[in-house]
Amino acid sequence: MTKPTVFINPKSGSIKITGEVDVVDVDGKVIETLTNPKICGCGLSKDKPWCDSSHGEYVKIVASALRNARELVKPCNLFGSTPVRAREIRENELKHRIESGETLVGVKVGGALDSTKKDSPTYTTIFGYLTDAMQCTESVRVASMIYPRAEAEVVFKLSKEISEEIHPSQVLDYVSHVAAGMEILDYRFGEVEASAEDAIADNAGAAAFAYGAWVPAHQENLDALSAEVFVNGECVETAPLTAIQGNPWLAVVEFSKLAAATGVKIAAGSIIYSGSATTGVHMVAGNTYRVEIKGLGQVEVKAS
Ligand code: FES
Repeated sequence: MTKPTVFINPKSGSIKITGEVDVVDVDGKVIETLTNPKICGCGLSKDKPWCDSSHGEYVKIVASALRNARELVKPCNLFGSTPVRAREIRENELKHRIESGETLVGVKVGGALDSTKKDSPTYTTIFGYLTDAMQCTESVRVASMIYPRAEAEVVFKLSKEISEEIHPSQVLDYVSHVAAGMEILDYRFGEVEASAEDAIADNAGAAAFAYGAWVPAHQENLDALSAEVFVNGECVETAPLTAIQGNPWLAVVEFSKLAAATGVKIAAGSIIYSGSATTGVHMVAGNTYRVEIKGLGQVEVKAS
């Protein structure tokens, strides 16, 4: 008898067994024998554990659940399932925002738990999109966010489109200006640590951003500077900028690798948030938050 084979569809998450298999109970007693069964790996089937093709609606359902989570300010438990699906959900969210009149202005780089490395937790680089509607200047409304946090980052302004991998020695050819930045995240999976797929589906938690005055980019040693986060004038977090990829300029390189691998293009004039130097600071309405990077600049917003 030919041995059954298993195919896990990397796009839908469905698990197709080709051949005849016995379904057994906890004692190993055969309940039924099935030929070519298909098992649900996406979690949406109404006939679990079997796949009923609901996976075809996965992107639409999860994207809409994530939007509802933001509207209801309530964490969502439906996420990315596979890397391909996660990216589709992120792209769906960007499409929805653009159709609603927003403009893509850049990306944010971040880190998330790599679920493929079971033995030792490691982090992988991901990115999310930033639109003009996410920019705040003096104030940000955190009361309608899920677990909002402020992070200190470096912001890069691009002088050239990024669509291919760039070498670290080329970074200054692609960046015209840099600034001190504050990124505000509102992870829609709440306070639990998310897998990379979930974080990608959640657009890397991007909720809002603010940045200080631009300074011309030059190989001013960003890796020799430190970032501080203040709450109502009191410093609560400090970290060297080397906490960002070992050197903040490398965030641009890491983004270029992701762009090249997934066919994403970010235009000249766009911004890239580097990923955080500091631990995220939980934001509460009524407080004032400031990021300072001595030698680069500062940015301050009032939370409401
Ligand atoms: S994988 Fe098909 S319904 Fe879930």
